[in-house]
Amino acid sequence: MSFKYSDEVLKRFRNPVNAGKIENPGGVGVVGNRNCGDVMHLYLKVENNVIKDVKFETLGCAAALAFSDLLCDIAKNKTIEQALKITKDELVKELGGVPAPKLHCSLLAVDALHKAIEDFQKKK
Ligand code: FES
Repeated sequence: MSFKYSDEVLKRFRNPVNAGKIENPGGVGVVGNRNCGDVMHLYLKVENNVIKDVKFETLGCAAALAFSDLLCDIAKNKTIEQALKITKDELVKELGGVPAPKLHCSLLAVDALHKAIEDFQKKK
């Protein structure tokens, strides 16, 4: 079993491009992991059913930050329906894998996206 992060994880962890907040977001998703204490906020801007912008604030491990940043890139310019199909396996593959004990961190990002979409649909 590898205990090393991939170059892609390290790159996104050190230099996330989607970190931050969206003012007056169309939807917000907040999730936490009870075991490790990590928390993620995900903000969506949606226009005509298309996710135009996504930003995150994550207090967590390197993997959680890398997953958060990647998720934002993948969700951008997708319709709500397409975004709901993003899976944690897709994120893991895009990051070039993560050490097994860090696989659970991918759930935070996917769950936050689902919650943000839920919030958007409630506000519509
Ligand atoms: S250790 Fe908590 S999300 Fe990674």
